[in-house]
Amino acid sequence: MAFIAATICGLIIFTICSLSNALSLNYYEKTCSNVDDIVTKVVKEAMSEDKTVPAALLRLHFHDCFIRGCDGSVLLESKGGNSAEKDGPPNLSLHAFYVIENAKKAVEAVCPGIVSCADILALAARDAVVLSGGPTWYVPKGRKDGRTSRAIETKELPSPTFNISQLEQSFSLRGLSLEDLVALTGAHTLGFSHCSSFQNRIHNFNSTHDVDPTMRPSFAARLKSICPINNKAKNAGTFMDPSSTTFDNTHYKLMLQGNTLFSSDQALLTIPNTRKLVYKFATSKKAFHTAFANSMIKLSTLNGGQEIRKDCSLVN
Ligand code: HEM
Ligand SMILES: *[C@@H]1O[C@H](CO)[C@@H](O)[C@H](O)[C@H]1NC(C)=O
Ligand SMILES: *[C@@H]1O[C@H](CO)[C@@H](O)[C@H](O)[C@H]1NC(C)=O
Ligand SMILES: *[C@@H]1O[C@H](CO)[C@@H](O)[C@H](O)[C@H]1NC(C)=O
Repeated sequence: MAFIAATICGLIIFTICSLSNALSLNYYEKTCSNVDDIVTKVVKEAMSEDKTVPAALLRLHFHDCFIRGCDGSVLLESKGGNSAEKDGPPNLSLHAFYVIENAKKAVEAVCPGIVSCADILALAARDAVVLSGGPTWYVPKGRKDGRTSRAIETKELPSPTFNISQLEQSFSLRGLSLEDLVALTGAHTLGFSHCSSFQNRIHNFNSTHDVDPTMRPSFAARLKSICPINNKAKNAGTFMDPSSTTFDNTHYKLMLQGNTLFSSDQALLTIPNTRKLVYKFATSKKAFHTAFANSMIKLSTLNGGQEIRKDCSLVN
């Protein structure tokens, strides 16, 4: 048995075992066995009121894991002199924090002081994908919540203007491969983007081109009309794809047509390695879904904090 476990560890779920030896699928089996169902119910209810909730939860989990590991640091409020991650520059579209607060309350009502906010966020992100028609996966649990959250550290998040080498570096620093990069970027099948995130491509792109020539001209023209150069409307922007509440592989198809918003998405076509994967995922939703689930497990297993927070927005 031990041999089998070690072999599985070595071959299949290497990352789960090596990056975070405390995580396991049955972590709360004896202490809070219904935690998955409790979280799912809260996410479902929130979604039925607000269609933007799944995208928000998925992005929150990504931002959480990229800064200090998956430790709920993205959920903390600024306090005293400290400006927290959620008040860092890329926070414009971070929202739906209340869903995690509600799920935490529901979990605390049944098993107080047991389940971390980081685990609740990881579960909620999985539910968000499943409830949008995406793949499911088992979420390893046992993360601890961190005690530190600094706005300045959000500089370590990848920027939508990144090229392929910058993206590769950002992901590899976290043990994530180019395949993880391409698969996880498929998350941009959900949600909304503000003008500021793709401004660089539609106005003064470089000294010879006003618009990024890799963009389809009709698409660029539409974006320019939504986002004029001296755009004053803070909330202006557009949906990531026409089926922005469905977790399908449309995002890759759009990429191949020059209809994608970010330079960082377009960058996946600039080297053969990642370009091949974009083609593969554009052709097969199933291949995308399988790869996405595997990469989410890797992402969500990055090491985190020290405590089980009582309130997700405050350290104990
Ligand atoms: C590869 C590097 C990535 C970059 C540069 C990037 C950048 C961005 C940007 C700029 C936005 C729009 C923000 C706005 O203008 O409001 C966005 C939205 C989003 N991102 Fe990413 N992202 C990346 C990877 C990921 C990953 C790995 C995930 C999840 C697995 C993810 C999930 C999302 C979701 C769901 C949204 C929509 C959020 C909403 O509608 O509330 N992104 N991303
Ligand atoms: C985003 O951060 C800025 C400071 O950088 C802050 O003024 C603003 O309230 C934050 N927005 C949200 C939605 O938290
Ligand atoms: C990506 O951008 C960095 C920083 O601007 C630059 O040093 C690098 O050469 C660029 N890489 C590619 C492949 O364009
Ligand atoms: C502007 O960008 C295009 C497309 O990437 C490129 O072909 C061109 O050389 C760039 N011009 C300058 C001056 O950098």
